[in-house]
Amino acid sequence: MNKPVDAAWKQLRDGCAAAPQDAWIRVGMDSGGIAAGAERLFERLAREVAAAGHAVPVRRVGSRGYAFADPLVEVKSAGNPPVLYGRVDDETASAIVSEHLGKGRLLDGHILGSRRRAVRIDGPVSAILVRDSSLQGGDKTEFFRASFEAELKEHGFLETVQVVGALDLGLYDEGLVVRLLPSGVTYTNVLSRDISRIVAESVAKQTVLDHLLWSRPDPQVRVVLRNCGIIDPESIDDAIRHGAYEALAGALAGRTPEQVIETVKTSGLRGRGGAGYPTGLKWELTREPAADRKYVICNADEGDPGAFMDRSVLEGDPHAVFEGLMLAAYAIGAAKGYFYIRAEYPLAVKRVSLAIQQARERGLLGDDILGSGWSFDAAIRLGAGAFVCGEETALIASIEGRRGSPEPRPPYPSVHGLFGKPTCINNVETLAAVPWIIAAGGETYAALGSGKSRGTKVFAVTGKVRHAQLVEVPMGTSVREIIFGICGGVQDEVPIKGVQTGGPSGGIIPEKHLDTPITYENLLELGSIMGSGGMLVMNENDCMVDVAAFYLKFCVDESCGKCAPCRVGGYQLLQLLLKISKGKGRPEDLAQIRRICRTMQCASLCGLGQTAANPVLSSLRFFEEEYLAYIEGGIPYARKLKKAMEEGRNLKDAV
Ligand SMILES: Cc1cc2nc3c(=O)[nH]c(=O)nc-3n(C[C@H](O)[C@H](O)[C@H](O)COP(=O)(O)O)c2cc1C
Ligand code: SF4
Repeated sequence: MNKPVDAAWKQLRDGCAAAPQDAWIRVGMDSGGIAAGAERLFERLAREVAAAGHAVPVRRVGSRGYAFADPLVEVKSAGNPPVLYGRVDDETASAIVSEHLGKGRLLDGHILGSRRRAVRIDGPVSAILVRDSSLQGGDKTEFFRASFEAELKEHGFLETVQVVGALDLGLYDEGLVVRLLPSGVTYTNVLSRDISRIVAESVAKQTVLDHLLWSRPDPQVRVVLRNCGIIDPESIDDAIRHGAYEALAGALAGRTPEQVIETVKTSGLRGRGGAGYPTGLKWELTREPAADRKYVICNADEGDPGAFMDRSVLEGDPHAVFEGLMLAAYAIGAAKGYFYIRAEYPLAVKRVSLAIQQARERGLLGDDILGSGWSFDAAIRLGAGAFVCGEETALIASIEGRRGSPEPRPPYPSVHGLFGKPTCINNVETLAAVPWIIAAGGETYAALGSGKSRGTKVFAVTGKVRHAQLVEVPMGTSVREIIFGICGGVQDEVPIKGVQTGGPSGGIIPEKHLDTPITYENLLELGSIMGSGGMLVMNENDCMVDVAAFYLKFCVDESCGKCAPCRVGGYQLLQLLLKISKGKGRPEDLAQIRRICRTMQCASLCGLGQTAANPVLSSLRFFEEEYLAYIEGGIPYARKLKKAMEEGRNLKDAV
């Protein structure tokens, strides 16, 4: 144990400690929240809280992931558990101050809840949240709300127990969901006849009704997103209060770089940027070569259509990523690091800049960090606006000031990287998991997950899903659980057709395979990839030929043009797909498509060209009949289908 480091850290940490606060308001101010009006709400809440004379700080936080319900405001009043409100507008913000803070009354129609699992009612019930979670049929929330109120009135509880219709309680297809506050005890599939027993037993006697109790664990585990929506991402003191830099301080005080690498190896962490390379091994390979300088780079160039995992982490908890980068630097022996951040993410750039600046001011960056003798510095470089710049050799070229186009590998960056020196490049999510792993131990992380895919993965679920959001689940969770269990199923009751994972490099998982546990290996077997974590839900009204063409067009547009298999092959492939989707295809086109796909996979220089054909091959593998229907039906079929799509009609009925 390095005592001076330990003492310096304790002094720094104690200096950040603030008296615990029993009341606060948090406003979700990530890009999504801000776009939905969070800045205006923040100012309004601060103004009205002050005017009402409440000693309640209003804080800025990142996203809790519930993108479908932005803007989010979480409220904690003295002596009560926090309540998260979604779809907050000006009127709701004013009511938060006047009703929630002023009178202790919860607001109807805005409360969001996760899948909590509480099994005891320890004190008087103060509120009953109700939500009809049925995925089909009408919403009976209001009916049940009124029934509960009538029952409470009869038993004389209406003055002390409030009944509130919730916006969402994180449970779906479980009939009427009822949650008792403050305990969080949750009942599912509640029928009208259960209402009197709930009031007579659970409200009057605080007894839990076991036959109604929801007792399954929450499928979400927050490792990477642990502090998103909780800390003020623009305050290093708040981050430190929530555990930031503890793992770094611990490593500097008492662990060798080799021990840090060993812990990461034990955790089984694999790169979350796409390829899934084992992180500990990458660090070891970068540590091994002797060199006067080494570098670490955080790849934050997130460019896949529909992906917003990395942005949310950078905006919500830049310190976790920064600490992960510093641990990587310490482990491999680097003295300089770069954040390569997509220029279209100005808020992420701002918050990472602040994190760097504040870390420097606190002595966590620069020379002789915490008196350990170890020095490190970091800087930001903006992405050059091309998807291919996320490829590691193109990224290196871009930081060096050259045009961002990929180079052949080997040599790999771990040997010959930035400015010709050994360089470790890791994704945002990979790095954000590292401090948790160092603090909790490699085995704890490895205990989550499945097979060779350990730990958790963040997914950005979008498309025809009811509740588009960010989820973090242990590897091995099925796609069905994510879409139906966590995100509430599909929109408008149109049956799901498939889910695209891995963005333009991935593939489609058809409905019949939705129960497949998500691991790197299983996705590869299905012709898809984990990718960075985009998950696009498609329903029966989506045309798979068009979906394949959409992703391919993205790659064709983003191809740097350096090698012919990608430049020429991609273009030819796209022309064939467009021809088919206009009803002008011929049966032999399918063989030609497969030939070009194989050539691109084998002969392209970088990952963009090697994987650009994946969505095409995957749609052919699972939905060949859609290609054949176009070819056999010709132009009349294509016209009918396109018209139905434009009009949002059911495709099956249309042709
Ligand atoms: C075309 C292309 C774009 C990529 N974009 C990203 C990106 O935006 N972010 C990222 O972390 N990795 C991206 N990658 C993967 C990186 O090259 C690299 O493998 C990754 O940053 C390594 O970090 P990891 O081991 O933590 O996953 C991309 C790869 C290709 C081929
Ligand atoms: S595969 Fe495509 S993006 Fe990659 S080097 Fe070749 S042309 Fe450029």
